[in-house]
Amino acid sequence: MKFQELLSESARAMRFSAIRRMSAVIERPGIISFAPGQPSPETFPVADFDRILKRAVAEEAAGAFQYILTRGYSPLLEAVADYARRKGMDSHPAERMLTEGSQQGLDLVSRVLIDPGDVVLCEAPSYVGALSAFRAARARMVSVQLDEQGLDLEDLRRQYRACRDAGHRVKFLYVVPNYQNPSGITHTLERRAGLLEVAHELDLLVVEDDPYGDVYFDQPPPPTLRSLDHDGRVLYLSSFSKILAPALRTAFVLGPETLLAKLEIAKQAADLCGSGLSHRVVLACLREGLIDAQKERIRPYYRDKCKAMLDALAREMPEGVSWTHPTGGLFVWLRLPEGRDAEALLEAAVAEGVAYVPGSPFFAEDDTGLNTMRLTFAREDVPKIEEGVRRLARAIRA
Ligand SMILES: Cc1ncc(COP(=O)(O)O)c(C=O)c1O
Repeated sequence: MKFQELLSESARAMRFSAIRRMSAVIERPGIISFAPGQPSPETFPVADFDRILKRAVAEEAAGAFQYILTRGYSPLLEAVADYARRKGMDSHPAERMLTEGSQQGLDLVSRVLIDPGDVVLCEAPSYVGALSAFRAARARMVSVQLDEQGLDLEDLRRQYRACRDAGHRVKFLYVVPNYQNPSGITHTLERRAGLLEVAHELDLLVVEDDPYGDVYFDQPPPPTLRSLDHDGRVLYLSSFSKILAPALRTAFVLGPETLLAKLEIAKQAADLCGSGLSHRVVLACLREGLIDAQKERIRPYYRDKCKAMLDALAREMPEGVSWTHPTGGLFVWLRLPEGRDAEALLEAAVAEGVAYVPGSPFFAEDDTGLNTMRLTFAREDVPKIEEGVRRLARAIRA
């Protein structure tokens, strides 16, 4: 059978992630890896998970293994509402839902909002998993410039108008305002306020993706867009993957009731419901104060590693190389001199014994950001981070 001919238009538009394609190269033994976009397993509170799971089984037996409501395990939904309220984000029950990670939230948002050819405005660079979800829904993705303060608001206006003048329908703006993956950039309070003003002016829905807001090193980031918004135009996603562990696949969406009603139906079609077992674990972590203890634990853990990377970059990198200075999250974004190609450099870097992710797949448009790369400090310990940066500098100089 000619299976290729059976594929839907949207399957034809799907691409293998460039990052996954590279994983064969970057996961060789002996390599110091700045590549994976994962929290460190050293931070996962495994003993607590073990205790909580044993207790759930002892107390609830088969009940803990049943289907749950599509929107999620009700006690966790209520606990999440409190959790969000403490960050200045009130919500009615009809305005919230749990998802299987924020990645599912992004996929459902794409299904509910995007018709083929609709425009999604994205940061340049942007989270590659979101780009994949938008691409699968056959969105037309358009980049808006990002600098160390946040989104370039003039460029936002410009790109919006250009799309509108070309007859395209702009459906929403997608942003990761805290310690963005991949750049590590955090939007300042002024830019957040300005972004919301522009969104109001253009009557634009904002999708705010915030898995890293609690992973700050010293000072918390400015308030979320959703908490600053008085217009009801922000759909907010956050996740427990980076604070507790990704395998719990537990995240949440807060947003306008009309959209949440459709997201619920889309989720029902996708998986009927999430895992009640995971939801019980997250609930216990919230009720017992473990989440707060986790946040206190991971902040100095990642802060020290990030500092080691930034210090090593300052010591080792040749002239013409620049990088971001994150104050939270897991990533540093490095820019080689114009004309250099980070993908072509990867082979030499791997030969030196260090790996990273070339930056180009993080851009909505092809052949953009060729001279950029994402480095994570999450995986390796401090001596390996220092050695890895030395190796990377050698590869760049060669
Ligand atoms: C910006 C951003 N959004 C969403 C996700 C998805 O996270 P999860 O599905 O584990 O909640 C990630 C994961 O790395 C991310 O970096």
